[in-house]
Amino acid sequence: MIQLLIVVVVIALYFYGTRNFDFFSKRGIKFEKPMIFFGGYLRQHVDKVSLSGRFAALHRAHPDEKFVGFFEGNSPAVVIIDTELIKHVLLTDFRDIHHRGLIPRTKFTEPLMRNILTSEGDTWKLMRQKLTPAFSSGKLKAMFPLIVEMTGKLTKLADEAATKDEVDVREMMARYTTDFIGACGFGIDSNALNEENSDFRKLGKRIFTYTNRDIFINVMKRAFPSAFEYARQFAPEIEHKTMSIIKEIMTQRNYQPSGRNDFIDILLELRQKGKIVGESIEHRNPDGSPAIVELDLDDELLAAQVFVFFAAGFETSSSASSYFLHCLAYHPEIQERCQKEVDEIIAKYNGKLCYDAIRDMKYLEMAFRESLRCLPSPGFIIRRTTSKYTIPGTQVTLDDGSVIIVSIEALSSSEKYFEDPEEFRPERFHPDNIGNIKKFTFMPFGDGPRSCIGERMAVMQSMAGVAAILRRFTVAPSRSSVRKPRIDPKSILVQTIIGGLPLAIRRRLT
Ligand code: HEM
Repeated sequence: MIQLLIVVVVIALYFYGTRNFDFFSKRGIKFEKPMIFFGGYLRQHVDKVSLSGRFAALHRAHPDEKFVGFFEGNSPAVVIIDTELIKHVLLTDFRDIHHRGLIPRTKFTEPLMRNILTSEGDTWKLMRQKLTPAFSSGKLKAMFPLIVEMTGKLTKLADEAATKDEVDVREMMARYTTDFIGACGFGIDSNALNEENSDFRKLGKRIFTYTNRDIFINVMKRAFPSAFEYARQFAPEIEHKTMSIIKEIMTQRNYQPSGRNDFIDILLELRQKGKIVGESIEHRNPDGSPAIVELDLDDELLAAQVFVFFAAGFETSSSASSYFLHCLAYHPEIQERCQKEVDEIIAKYNGKLCYDAIRDMKYLEMAFRESLRCLPSPGFIIRRTTSKYTIPGTQVTLDDGSVIIVSIEALSSSEKYFEDPEEFRPERFHPDNIGNIKKFTFMPFGDGPRSCIGERMAVMQSMAGVAAILRRFTVAPSRSSVRKPRIDPKSILVQTIIGGLPLAIRRRLT
């Protein structure tokens, strides 16, 4: 009897766990073979390929399809391949697809996930509307002296590194980025940042150390969203530490902008203006116009926005700037041209690295963008439908909450769009050539209303760091450098590299 029951339960579980698996085959659409219950989730771990690599492989295996299917747990999801369809998903049909949905939607949102990167619906809409001016050129220029101060600390690190055989520039740029986040995001002053064991440094390290607990919760939240609704993505100590550091800074400032022009100041200014009011993206009035909604920028919501510097800015910026150095090390002639430009422009600004000087470094920016094409930090864009969505030009309708992926990695390394994509050629981004790049094929910062709000800040901060290094040093491949570094198969959003990025740093003779 018990055996029979077990057989029945196993069969029932099998049917439950595979109930949607004929979604694509019934419609004649190519798709990635799923695993019972997990769909494609475990494939990353079984195939030992990063999430970005997995989506890029799906894209590359079907270059002539408009899109290809896969399963998120039991739910059908798609990787969009055709650039016209990409435009629909990221731009034209935004009303139906405005969630990022890194994890499936549930009613409970943990406090730190209310940051603009991971929040959804009206919280996202109102915060994006209010924070857009915070990332304007004017605010960035006012904040820039803090970034320049951090490049001074980076130069000291590089000077120490120059006495050694080689140094992991990924680690070096991660320290520079942590200092930038501390100074510009959290409003911590430079002396406090010098302490190796400060609370802030410990927090930074903990956020990016993926413990078994973190991996387990991440897989389970995506595979069984309801059962794991209240399990927190961020370990409790991360939430407590972030809140307490930010509260301490705000108390020190008496909840008033301090004139330091950092992000906390900008948020405090915003808060002084009272409740945030704006048009809803979720609710409509009976006449079809958007309902008016409001949002209170309380301590928790404010802290979540500061946290975005870690959530969205840390791994992306440190990966991008260090990979840029790696590319320059392997292309000495391009490095020399960048150094010449850096020297000339800094001389023009009386020997000072400043906002306008960095903005004038056009060739450096071309080379930086080319390095992002070769290795885009997040290798894919993710969206989640917010209503039933019929893929334009097809009979395929995805349910509300379905995942849609665009592979930045596959697009920017495709021969179809970039001649000799393996080659590092900054000239592709020369103003005379940039018009030849097809829209929606180069998107290291995403595209549409949910694209990277920090793009200008990221470009300027990364370029400032690299310019500060090139001004005094030359980078070159070293004993353990690998020309084409291996991406860590455990990478989720940002493509991290196994073994870091070792390079030799040498003082320039001039
Ligand atoms: C080189 C460094 C960076 C790269 C390559 C990068 C790339 C990206 C990408 C690909 C997205 C997703 C876009 C989409 O879904 O269409 C994104 C979103 C975002 N990034 Fe960046 N990012 C970088 C640095 C930063 C920095 C320094 C900040 C600010 C502190 C930042 C803030 C954000 C935010 C807030 C979002 C979410 C925007 C929204 O959902 O409205 N990023 N970034």
